[in-house]
Amino acid sequence: MNAQIDNLLTETRRFEPTPEFVAQANADETLYARAQADRLGFWADQARELISWQRPFTSVLNWENPPFAKWFEDGTLNVAYNCLDRHVEAGNGDRIALYWEGEPGDTRAISYAELTDEVKRAANVLTDLGVRAGDRVAIYLPMIPEAIVSMLAVARLGAVHSVIFGGFSADSIRARVDDAAATLIITADGGYRKGKVSPLKPAVDAALEARGDLPTQQTVRNVLVVGRGGNQIEWTEGRDHWWHERVPAASSVHEPEAFPAENPLFILYTSGTTGAPKGILHTSGGYLTQAAYTHRNVFDIHPETDVYWCTADVGWITGHTYVTYGPLANGATQVLYEGTPDSPNPGRWWELIEKYRVSVFYTAPTAIRAAMKLGRKIPKRSDLSSIRLLGSVGEPINPEAWMWYRKVIGGKTAPIVDTWWQTETGAIMISALPGVTVTKPGSAQVPLPGIEVSVLEENGTPVPPGSGGLLAITEPWPSMLRGIWGDPDRFRETYWSTFPNAYFAGDGARLDADGDVWLLGRVDDVMNVSGHRLSTAEIESALVAHPFVAESAVVGATDETTGQAVVAFVILKESQAEETADHAAVSAALKSHVSTLIGPIARPRDIFVVAELPKTRSGKIMRRLLRDLAEGREVGDTTTLADTTVMRIISADVAAR
Ligand code: WTA
Repeated sequence: MNAQIDNLLTETRRFEPTPEFVAQANADETLYARAQADRLGFWADQARELISWQRPFTSVLNWENPPFAKWFEDGTLNVAYNCLDRHVEAGNGDRIALYWEGEPGDTRAISYAELTDEVKRAANVLTDLGVRAGDRVAIYLPMIPEAIVSMLAVARLGAVHSVIFGGFSADSIRARVDDAAATLIITADGGYRKGKVSPLKPAVDAALEARGDLPTQQTVRNVLVVGRGGNQIEWTEGRDHWWHERVPAASSVHEPEAFPAENPLFILYTSGTTGAPKGILHTSGGYLTQAAYTHRNVFDIHPETDVYWCTADVGWITGHTYVTYGPLANGATQVLYEGTPDSPNPGRWWELIEKYRVSVFYTAPTAIRAAMKLGRKIPKRSDLSSIRLLGSVGEPINPEAWMWYRKVIGGKTAPIVDTWWQTETGAIMISALPGVTVTKPGSAQVPLPGIEVSVLEENGTPVPPGSGGLLAITEPWPSMLRGIWGDPDRFRETYWSTFPNAYFAGDGARLDADGDVWLLGRVDDVMNVSGHRLSTAEIESALVAHPFVAESAVVGATDETTGQAVVAFVILKESQAEETADHAAVSAALKSHVSTLIGPIARPRDIFVVAELPKTRSGKIMRRLLRDLAEGREVGDTTTLADTTVMRIISADVAAR
């Protein structure tokens, strides 16, 4: 990280938008001025301009009981109607909503009229299966159109979806389904990944099975299964239903009911600093307003002409806001791709850009660095001249990757928007506005109009330009999380206790002399691996759940491609000495154990067997010292350790490997 920060501090390149881009851009300077003059009035305007309300709101923000915000509280709307029917009613039913491409090369082009029809049918099926407003529905699907159809069908009924990323394990599904008490799970037999069918339903079956100490899952009554992989699966009569038998046979007549703006829309689980993932709760009117506003202005979307592609999976917040809700609320045309970037060849993404003439492309720095490593020859094989805007999200983008992205993918002219936000913020918070901002490689730059952020010292005073501190959001925003599902205290403690009147994001940041924000990564025990959030505590508890392990400590170590990598230090149980003599075998076994328990994304890159862990006198593990070791640096200040010789022992253990 240190080399990267040095790199950021010396970055002086600046890129002005071209006059042609400026001339056609959705955003201009007046947005900042309007928001500055009357922030709440500005948001009310956005909500009225971008969203169709069944009953117009009169109250913009209710902040009487912070941190529990209510936006547009007396307004009513149907979120799915906003993403579908109203575009058809406006005469745009023939516009393509989704250009879907399966990994094996099968394709579907789905118009807004067709998508609306399909969502109505699916909503009728869900009603038949007992789903009512407020009920929770878990979705565990590959990147196929049915994933979006399912989310919107749930939203249409005023029910709450909880999308679980297809890479998560049975245990992770179980934890999420239990926490939300979901009554229905929508899954698929399997999906295509890296040229093979990767099964999904078996993990759902396992999650719903009674297992030893855990009770049988009582709340799930039905499982709706999309046939995608064609792989063999088990079937539970009465509980399991095929999508292709139910949805096409259902009526395509479905009246959208209007729900209050604060009706819950979804729960999305994300890693925090403690073991159990938090169910981040988002509601309807404010979320959709900020999703549509940011999608329109940050990505400069012109729905009649643009082809937009966000590569995120709908299992993450980026997929929720910038695959499902933002683009569809704006009536945009987008590409949806099922598979991995390198299947069947490393140029697949660039081929898709050429094939669909993608004009706006949004991805993560990890993917950019991976492409960069393979060399520019691969993207150069495709015609990328349709690209006119590029976006980045999920982790800090190093200036080198930013420059490569601009030159090789963006044809040296496309503006890059580096967008900072979180599952909790629901939508983009800090980003350049294309056509307005002079961009700087590596900096997310400025809060969007309507958003107030500060970089604060630990005591809550703003840092002067040129200094670093903690990133805080100082005013409520429409798409902010409304809480943690079932745990209001944790919501207050996690985000609102560091500073008296501001939301603490968990990120370190620096302000430069111009007042632009540079993100420096998490300051808590959350790791960011390939743009995915992982909790050190969650992986530590997975490790100690293994019979070999007495104690563990996990750190995120800098990794050239994935940003950070999971590195674990374990102390083995004395009683297992015989079984664990071969440390290489132990490390392999523990890696696959973590992968089974949480999912392959959590699999540690390295596991070191050690005799001791560095702890303070109060027993807290000093991860900073372990990070020094994991990154091959000289170990820093050890004076606060209970036993100062311990790092010498650990260093010797690590060196012996
Ligand atoms: C990090 C993803 C630097 C940050 C949308 C944040 C970023 C966490 C950026 C949220 C960016 C996201 N520059 N860091 N442009 N975007 N992050 O919840 O540490 O999966 O707190 O949301 O990713 O990750 P999450």
